[in-house]
Amino acid sequence: MTKPNAPEYVVSVDQLRVGVFIRIEGFSWFTHPFVFRSFKLKSQEQIQTIKDLGISQVICIPERSDVLPLRPEKQVDKAAESAKPTPPKQTTAIDRLWQIKRERAARLKQKKERIVKCEQQYTTSLKQVSSIMKGIASGSFQEVPQAINFVKELSEFFLADMESTLHLMNLTATEERVYFHSLNVAVLSLMLGREAGLGLEEMNSLGIGALFHDIGKSKIEKKILLKRTALTKPEMAILFMHPKFGMEILQKQKSVFPKAVSEIVYQHHELCNGKGYPEKLTAEKISRLTKIVSIVNTYDNHCNKLEAQESLTPYQALSFMFTQEKQWFDLNLLTVFIRCLGVYPPGSIVALNNGAIGLVISVNAVDPLYPSVLIYDPDIPKEEAIIVDLKEETDLKVEKSVRPAKLPEQIFNYLSPRQRITYYVDPTEKSKKRP
Ligand SMILES: [Fe+2]
Repeated sequence: MTKPNAPEYVVSVDQLRVGVFIRIEGFSWFTHPFVFRSFKLKSQEQIQTIKDLGISQVICIPERSDVLPLRPEKQVDKAAESAKPTPPKQTTAIDRLWQIKRERAARLKQKKERIVKCEQQYTTSLKQVSSIMKGIASGSFQEVPQAINFVKELSEFFLADMESTLHLMNLTATEERVYFHSLNVAVLSLMLGREAGLGLEEMNSLGIGALFHDIGKSKIEKKILLKRTALTKPEMAILFMHPKFGMEILQKQKSVFPKAVSEIVYQHHELCNGKGYPEKLTAEKISRLTKIVSIVNTYDNHCNKLEAQESLTPYQALSFMFTQEKQWFDLNLLTVFIRCLGVYPPGSIVALNNGAIGLVISVNAVDPLYPSVLIYDPDIPKEEAIIVDLKEETDLKVEKSVRPAKLPEQIFNYLSPRQRITYYVDPTEKSKKRP
């Protein structure tokens, strides 16, 4: 490895050798056959391909190179040089690269179509959730069977498809905050429940409890729920009543909601160290399903605060929970949660080891270290941005998380980090483990 922070410089293609990290400039993504503009040279054939494309100079990035380029050759006798026969162009190598690139473009198109479908499905589910919750909050229990069915379908889906992929949604829906929150907590709780080994019955209770955990807030005035400044003591006392209000609402339908569901609603602000509310229960008195919802609820609240600019990034939220709040949670469940969201959960901005910056848009619990990342590339229009699946790109890995506030404006606008972090599962996407 060469010196860190060594400046980039232009080199002739004749100076290239295996191990040098380069960037090709002056060619748009559509006119060169390489997947990325920046990469480390791995073979002599690659160097020959660059020459065959008629590229005479590239940028060398010493910091990422294993070796430096060769010294420039001495001035050669131009006449003697031009008298040499020109070697035949390695068109087959170039054709093969183009073929790989075309296949990648086809896969990318399919992936984007699946994302659009997943977003449509999410919008439908969100509408369903909002009508169910509005009904129940207004005292009508007509929607209860619909809610139970909705959760059943989600939990059956999670249990049937162990490889479901969690996608970051790019929202256009204008539903109220509480419905996004409820659906997000339900989806992530079911994912965690599945990974924690729950059976179908427990999954159903978990999903319903997660969906309705804040139903008691429907009894609290909006001016308290949406207050942007600190709550007064009396206001705080009212807010702290929402688990009790929620349980009272569900108890009106005792025969429909099992005890496990009411427990989640009543206990979801209890903390394992006994410092939660309303009962200050300690770990052994809090149900396992509640412990799941408590972790997910806290995560969602960190990522989606009332004031968007105060929200933590998904990466920061997980780090914060693990370092500052772990005494609140069941550590085993928290570890499973972090494992299935990956170190860089969807919604994180990351730097890859080839220098690219991207937005993590999906992760698969089977292979959480290798998410799919939407890549910033000024050569490619934003709408056509490439998405790399790190399971397929064995040379690539995430190097670090980047704070959106640190991004140059151009990259920020291109990646548009989400104001609201919401997830949904893609029922059609299957994933293979990275080889
Ligand atoms: Fe709550």
